[in-house]
Formats: sequence, C-alpha cells, structure tokens
Amino acid sequence: MKTVVITGSARGLGLCMAKVFRKNNFNVVISDLKEENLKKAAEELLDIKGEGKVSYHICDVTKSIDIEELINFAVTEYKKIDIWINNAGVNQPDKALWDLSEEEINLILNIDLKGAIIGSKLAMKEMMKNHQGAIYNIEGYGSNDAMMLGLNMYGTSKRAVTHFTIALAKESEEKDTGVIVGRLSPGIMITDFITNALGNGEKINLPERTKKVYNILGDYPDVVAEFLVNSMINNTKNNVKINWLTNGKAAWRFMTSGFNKRDFFNK
Ligand SMILES: NC(=O)c1ccc[n+]([C@@H]2O[C@H](COP(=O)([O-])OP(=O)(O)OC[C@H]3O[C@@H](n4cnc5c(N)ncnc54)[C@H](O)[C@@H]3O)[C@@H](O)[C@H]2O)c1
Repeated sequence: MKTVVITGSARGLGLCMAKVFRKNNFNVVISDLKEENLKKAAEELLDIKGEGKVSYHICDVTKSIDIEELINFAVTEYKKIDIWINNAGVNQPDKALWDLSEEEINLILNIDLKGAIIGSKLAMKEMMKNHQGAIYNIEGYGSNDAMMLGLNMYGTSKRAVTHFTIALAKESEEKDTGVIVGRLSPGIMITDFITNALGNGEKINLPERTKKVYNILGDYPDVVAEFLVNSMINNTKNNVKINWLTNGKAAWRFMTSGFNKRDFFNK
C-alpha cells in the first residue's frame, strides 16, 4: 500500500487531496499547525471508504525539526513515503511592500518558499534511501510571472517555488536519485486562503472585480483535488507541471460566462 504525506492539510486543497488519496487506498498522513483541526480532518477522512490508514502529525513547515519529525513519524508508521506534497501556504495581506512588516514578509517567505524548500530537501533525502518517490510543490499567483499590487511577496515566493522545483527535478535526474519532482498548478480555488491573509484571521476584502474573475475562473478545491491527485497517481515522469486551469479552459470559462453564471460569494 502506498503512502502520501501532505503539509498544511487540515483544510482546503490539502485536505481535499488527502480525501482523494484515501479513496484510492493510500495510507494518508495529514499535518498542520493545530491538533484540534487535524483531529477533525482525520475524522472526515475516516468517514471515507478506503483500505489505507489515516494518521496526523503536527508540523509547522517553518521549523525544519517539525518537518524531520513528520518524516520520521510517517516512516515509522508506514516504512516509506511514496508521495510528499509541500502544500502549506499563506496569502499576503492586500498591502504594498512598504506597508508590510518585516514579520509579515518573513512569514510569507518562510511558509510559502522556505517551507517548500526544506520539505523537498528532507523528503528527497528520505526517498533517496529507497531510490523511489515523488515530491510535488504547489504553484500559485506569480509562478508564471504575473504581477498584481498587494501580491508582491506571495508572487515572489511562488515564482521562486517554480524555479526551485524545476531546478530540483534536474538535480534529481542528474544525480539519478530515483525520485521524481513536479509542480501542481491548482488555478483559483474558493478556500479560506483567498480571504484570510497569513492564515491568522486577518481578512482580505476582495474588490468586486476580483470576485467577478474568481466567479468565472474559480473552483471549489474538491474538484481541483480530484484532477491533481488522479494525475499524480498516474504520473511516472520527472519535472511535470500538472495544470488545472489551462489557458484553453480559462478562455472557455470567459467565453461561456454570460450564460454560465456562478456566484461563490453570495451563498
Ligand atoms: N486558494 C487558491 O486560490 C490558491 C491558488 C493557487 C495556489 N494555492 C496554493 O495552494 C495551497 C493550499 O492553499 P489553500 O487554498 O488550500 O489554503 P488554505 O488556507 O485553505 O489551507 C492552507 C493550510 O496551510 C496551513 N498552514 C499555514 N501555515 C502553516 C505552517 N507554517 N505550517 C504548516 N501548515 C501551515 C493552514 O493551517 C491551512 O490548513 C497553498 O500553497 C496556496 O498557496 C491556492
């Protein structure tokens, strides 16, 4: 039986991906900041039929010791890790760079970028022992060099995550580690993330024009997770980008938005 470990998976995309892995009979290890959220998420996972086991472990991805302990926990429980997903992430408060505190800048970079780097490094070291495994990092706004006021630090992190992940895939291939490395591009998802900056309850008030775009291009995370997880399960190639919101899909959504009305914000 295969094992997946996902960071930041007590809610949102991480939990939705965990549910699809569970349906596909993986052992699933979820991890996040707070035990009470993990406990609740684990109960939701156990309500889904699956032949694998479900476990949770607290892990703050800004602390390498936590990531190390998460790996040791998963390996002790399940012997090896087949898929590792650096999913934990926070959004940026809607502020220009000069209005962000140093603490806010550190938090965004430490979670969104360094968390993925250290998670990848430590997962890679573990997987290399068995000459097998797959590591995925999550792209986001900025990965393709898009820029927007109020998203400088988030975009910088995600742009760097993209560079880092491609570079790691190449390193892995050159060193013949046996580990594949890829990127997940989930598009726009209607999760707490889009209105909750830094994951600490600081609200972002979305402008009406942004809501309009989200209504056209956005999806609930369960829909996106189904696609991403099925693609990961079937993927054997290194350096892939698994992309939900392709240019073609986005163009189709805009073309059909006149008669395909969706409203995620006034439910
Ligand atoms: N929602 C979107 O539109 C969108 C779009 C593109 C990419 N993404 C990316 O997808 C991933 C998941 O986002 P989501 O929408 O599910 O967000 P979410 O806010 O619903 O979930 C993020 C999870 O990460 C956890 N987390 C925050 N800081 C952490 C830390 N230091 N250590 C461990 N866990 C931590 C949170 O507690 C939360 O459970 C993120 O990497 C995000 O950047 C989201």
